[in-house]
Amino acid sequence: MTETLTQPTIIKADQQTADPTESFAIDVLVGMQATPKRLSSVYFYDEKGSQLFEEICDLDEYYLTRKETEILQRSAAEIIENLPINAHLVELGSGSSRKTRILLEAAMSRFDETQYSPIDISSEILESSAKDLKQHYPELKIEAIVGRYEFGLKQILQANGSSNCIMWLGSSIGNLTRKEAADFLRNIRQNIHGDDCLLLGMDLRKDADILEPAYDDKKGVTAAFNLNLLDRINGELGGQFKLDDFRHKAIYNVEEGRIEMYLVSEKDHEVHIDHFDKTIRFKENENILTEYSYKYSQSEIVDLAEASGFYLDKQWLDDSGWFSLNCFKP
Ligand code: AVI
Repeated sequence: MTETLTQPTIIKADQQTADPTESFAIDVLVGMQATPKRLSSVYFYDEKGSQLFEEICDLDEYYLTRKETEILQRSAAEIIENLPINAHLVELGSGSSRKTRILLEAAMSRFDETQYSPIDISSEILESSAKDLKQHYPELKIEAIVGRYEFGLKQILQANGSSNCIMWLGSSIGNLTRKEAADFLRNIRQNIHGDDCLLLGMDLRKDADILEPAYDDKKGVTAAFNLNLLDRINGELGGQFKLDDFRHKAIYNVEEGRIEMYLVSEKDHEVHIDHFDKTIRFKENENILTEYSYKYSQSEIVDLAEASGFYLDKQWLDDSGWFSLNCFKP
């Protein structure tokens, strides 16, 4: 077999203009000076954070991955049936290959030709997962796009003539506020064609006694994932954080329908960050907000679809009704 048949195509969608360390530094400085203090959850995913997230997905308490996989295993054929023939599968994030493979296999058994385009900001993760997939499925046409979602999508939607199914699995939409989610989907709506669709994995509202352990597990993997943000500041920005001076906290805010994750200072203390030569003061029990993870009710899913120019065409749930896969059409 020739190289071109066994290698996926990798395309760079946008030239990174800003230096990533500088953008991280600016966000950390702004967040540490804000009241209340905050750090963005986009910075969880360095190499160690990505590994910890993989571990989270295998935890008993973190039902999200298991329930979404259950839906895909049961309904992949039906999900693919609901798409136009030979639809191009576009995935935001390069995906845990376990979940994506279920859909790809269903598409390959229905379509004459299956085209798959993962879009991810991390070229390393994207390249390794695309190569791995290509090795398993040589017949799959893979065109992976390195870049931010908006740029990658624009590139795909402008270039191809086929129908597209844009997949965003794993409840990643939950890490946006409800307004950010609607803005993001509205932007996609403005760029897609009439027979394209979205396939969104969305976690559902449920009792705090199921949700809170999912974000504060017994083994402490989520705590390590959260605290790794401070380690990252130490490694990349010369921070002097002592991880023992902070603890992980995850609470479910019922009114807002969201998990809120914090790092809580154990005592009054100061931390110097060399990169911008500044000392940050913390009070005992002071919170740093690190993540929101929004959960949706049925009516909030319908409202989100409508607010962004779509309608909810079909929905699949797991047996316990904890997680949903939603097909939005324009
Ligand atoms: C990536 N995202 C959907 C996860 C979530 O459930 O919000 C991130 C996560 N945070 C703590 N555990 C998992």
